Amino acid sequence: MLELIWPLIRALLFRLEAERAHGLTLSLLEHLGAPLGALARLDLPLTSGPPVQLGPLTLPSPIGLAAGLDKDGVALPFWPSLGFGFVELGTVTAHPQPGNPRPRLFRLPTDRALINRMGFNNQGSAALAQRLRALRRRGGWPDVPVGANIGKSKRTPLEEATGDYVTSVRRLVGLVDWFTVNVSSPNTEGLRSLQDRDALARLLPAVLAAASGTPVLLKLAPDLSDAAIDEAVGLAQELGVTGIVATNTTITRPGLGHDPDQDGGLSGRPLWPLARDRIQRILDVAGDLPVVGVGGISTPEQVCELLEAGCVAIQLYTALIYEGPALPARLHRAVSLAHNTGSAPPPPRRAG
Ligand SMILES: Cc1cc2nc3c(=O)[nH]c(=O)nc-3n(C[C@H](O)[C@H](O)[C@H](O)COP(=O)(O)O)c2cc1C
Repeated sequence: MLELIWPLIRALLFRLEAERAHGLTLSLLEHLGAPLGALARLDLPLTSGPPVQLGPLTLPSPIGLAAGLDKDGVALPFWPSLGFGFVELGTVTAHPQPGNPRPRLFRLPTDRALINRMGFNNQGSAALAQRLRALRRRGGWPDVPVGANIGKSKRTPLEEATGDYVTSVRRLVGLVDWFTVNVSSPNTEGLRSLQDRDALARLLPAVLAAASGTPVLLKLAPDLSDAAIDEAVGLAQELGVTGIVATNTTITRPGLGHDPDQDGGLSGRPLWPLARDRIQRILDVAGDLPVVGVGGISTPEQVCELLEAGCVAIQLYTALIYEGPALPARLHRAVSLAHNTGSAPPPPRRAG
């Protein structure tokens, strides 16, 4: 049913300005998430495939929701109804902030892509902590792992970034199943320089200490050189980071049919070749460090390719906007089938 009516819903949503469509959808899911989730569960054939391990976390499906779609966690209970096996909230920052001036989100429908320069618009990590605490109290906590992606507030100078990240981690520790340290979004000035070895060597130990045993993942940009990847991944391993999320959006503009000439990070289909290439580099040097693949994924073949290459799981954002809410269940079905029939890739690598 959802699959059938999605083209109509998408046509209506695409008549609205992109961020307005996003805001409207989230607010619908915030207020009507329970009945819509129940309908989605009835409608979508959710397969139960073999669970996968992301460090100590057990994911019921290797298909996850990427950061940025539900930054403030307003629709958290809804996402597992679509078949997501893990959900990453955020990016949240220590200070609530409005983000960049609008318009700041652009659809590129012929390329099945988005360009965004949101700039970490979010209600802040204190508000997220409060919302998550209330959800736990109400008993509405989802049955899949939930992570918080943490970034630096715009107003905090780069030299004080560590304190900003640590503040958010301290507020959220005990409430989420993992943290993702975001040093790879292109829309906060200087943020990506935190991917440098020296900066990471200051930031990560402080975050790991504040997380006090909660797994910490590191999210990297697709625009890093081989040398920069090797350094960041090597350091992550040395310091005891649980895994790598790769990749964020790109500031490059590979193979766009129509370039709207907007600043920001590009996601969706044109990102895939670059993300795939950078993920491979990360896998090559990561050893046993688990890798979550993200960037332009929309088909079962891409998911299987990444799992076969050694990713433990994958995440989606942009393809959900174009392919619709049935996508995660469809991808999970295909992966489970491939696993059960042994026709295609081997089961996702279990890291531990
Ligand atoms: C509108 C938008 C907002 C995003 N916001 C965040 C964010 O706050 N933090 C983050 O780590 N990644 C953010 N991302 C990046 C996604 O999590 C993902 O890494 C990237 O879009 C590539 O995946 P995709 O091609 O499936 O969208 C955002 C992406 C989009 C399109």
